[in-house]
Amino acid sequence: MSLTQLRDRGASAPMPRVTADVLLQKKRAGQPITALTAYDFPTARLVDEAGIDLVLVGDSVGMAVLGYENTLPVTMEEMLHHTRAVSRGVRRALLVADMPYGSYQASVEDGIRNAVRFVKEAGAQAVKIEGGRKHVDLIARLADAEVLVVGHIGLTPQSVHRMGGYRVQGKTAEAMDALCADAQALEAAGAIAIVLEGIPRELATVITARSGVPTIGIGAGPDCDGQILVFHDLFNLTFSAPAKFSRRYADGAEFFSRAIAQYRDDVAGRSFPSDAESYHLPREVQLPREVQTESDAEEPHLCKA
Ligand code: KIV
Repeated sequence: MSLTQLRDRGASAPMPRVTADVLLQKKRAGQPITALTAYDFPTARLVDEAGIDLVLVGDSVGMAVLGYENTLPVTMEEMLHHTRAVSRGVRRALLVADMPYGSYQASVEDGIRNAVRFVKEAGAQAVKIEGGRKHVDLIARLADAEVLVVGHIGLTPQSVHRMGGYRVQGKTAEAMDALCADAQALEAAGAIAIVLEGIPRELATVITARSGVPTIGIGAGPDCDGQILVFHDLFNLTFSAPAKFSRRYADGAEFFSRAIAQYRDDVAGRSFPSDAESYHLPREVQLPREVQTESDAEEPHLCKA
């Protein structure tokens, strides 16, 4: 069955895993870090086997896959479910799981308990937390608890209501200072990398130059240490116009729609499945007379294989 083939990777040599240190070495060597989201087993395999360094199970799963209006309704159980599926498909990339809204805001203890679940129950190597200075206690405690943390500042989608929409952040001198301070605080607290989302290129350049840990940009210009995009944005699978910062690499919607329409027509027109796509009785087994067709009746054995 095709799903069995999907699981089979053939003879598999052990794969050296991307670690936090590998990302740091890339920053220091000026080699761009590649990162992409994935939410399920097949896309995780495709992304990992393409050699992407960091795979993020983003809470963007809520919008990209689950059909929510924003990321706020995404639950721990949904994130764990998708992270488990992705972890079964990733062998090389650093696997980062997003802490969903509500899983770390109430208390540091909540944050630790939930972050540990991603590592212990779902195979994540790190968690990502939105917000800057206000979460340094949690990040420091997670570092103590051996949980790697990726920070995320700028346009943080979990703050959509406070921001009044998905708006570029850090456009005033005051906001720039605040984001620089956030980045420094995250690094000091032990974050292994910082996602910079939706900020002016010039600000991302400054933060990246000052930061001792890698910055990974999305809508933050080309001068970050790495770039991340949402899988469904790359493939036109969002049913909406792309954001300015995003680039479409293929038209997945067109590709899938054409194939689905072809399948529908083949079934409706009885050209699928063909005889070659059917199983047959063994030659020695006869069909009961009442279900034989005329041509069956002419054959001594009814198998046409
Ligand atoms: O949830 C997500 O996909 C993200 C990335 C876009 C950084 O947070």
